[in-house]
Amino acid sequence: MATINDRVPVSNIKKIAVLTGGGDCPGLNAVIRAVVKDAINCGIEVYGIEDGFLGLIEDRIRPLSLDDVSNILTQGGTILGSNNRSNPQNYPVGEDKDGNIIYKDLTDVCVTHLQIRKIEALIVIGGDGTMSVAKPIADKGFNCIGVPKTIDNDLYGTDITFGFQTAVHVATEALDRVHSTAASHHRVMVVELMGRNAGWITLHAGIASGADVILIPEIEFDLDKISEYCLWRSQRGKRFTIIAVSEGARPKGGKQIVDRVVEKSPDPIRLGGVAKWLATEIEERTEIESRYVVLGHTQRGGTPTAGDRILATQFGHHAMQLLKMGKNNRLVVMQGGVLGDVDINSAADKQRLVPSSHPLITAARSVYTSFGD
Ligand code: F6P
Repeated sequence: MATINDRVPVSNIKKIAVLTGGGDCPGLNAVIRAVVKDAINCGIEVYGIEDGFLGLIEDRIRPLSLDDVSNILTQGGTILGSNNRSNPQNYPVGEDKDGNIIYKDLTDVCVTHLQIRKIEALIVIGGDGTMSVAKPIADKGFNCIGVPKTIDNDLYGTDITFGFQTAVHVATEALDRVHSTAASHHRVMVVELMGRNAGWITLHAGIASGADVILIPEIEFDLDKISEYCLWRSQRGKRFTIIAVSEGARPKGGKQIVDRVVEKSPDPIRLGGVAKWLATEIEERTEIESRYVVLGHTQRGGTPTAGDRILATQFGHHAMQLLKMGKNNRLVVMQGGVLGDVDINSAADKQRLVPSSHPLITAARSVYTSFGD
């Protein structure tokens, strides 16, 4: 990882653009604000691209001013709009006579839309899907600087992405809230959390809320063991069990439960449904009344936590520092508490999963938390 010690700008960059790609997440506006304010402060013009790469394909690009980013630090979502179904390299442009969709590579069109306005660099705020979509543009020699976003915290190369802390906060509060019903009605309560193939949100929120069982995609679970654990708790007087389950968790030798397939998305699989299935199976096996809750997009909404606002501001500033230093095709990262940058292509199409030896797993096991294994 490269770090910036020298703060003296060397590049003479005059115009940049910024876009937000993939699913929204808390802190996107905080990054946009940091980028726009930092740029204008240094005499650099900033353009905003609407709805991610779709706006770049369709040439929906507008100048951003200080007024545009005033009062957005605490707002969830993105003032620019986002889109997770438009890949310029593989964009549907029509149908052939047999009804098959015709795809075209519109990378050059995107670069032209930037060059016409004399834009010299693009700040891409997104997750692994967005970074992989940016890759062909960077490969054409157009400077792309990535800023790592996702509630899932699964972007390769960085220890943390902004949005994650807010999602953990929302998930923890929800797990805390189901506690009272679980205890009053002596139930098993299963709470399904987002995160795709990574269990970071569930692991953190599960530990923070003291969930009895934490099920993550990285550790396959055994239904019999979970049922035995619920019964064991009942026998020792704890007549309820709280289960935090990742949407991507699966039983030993089984498959993840897919809710839908979103055509044209860089990652078309949408997971969901494991909590309902688990609650039914556990009730059948234990005869303890069971219910489930799916938090879904509530984890992505609302105002970012203080931690995410700070991280997003740091990331936005660092992206600007990289541009001012004349760096090309870098991804802003945080490693071991230090801000730095890596090659933007190193994050494309990869996921950072929870290692089974992670210290948080060991700590959770030490307080009798079950991982269902
Ligand atoms: O990557 C963020 C995320 O919220 C995942 O946790 C979840 O699986 C997915 O996006 C949901 O996507 P969509 O908003 O397209 O339903």
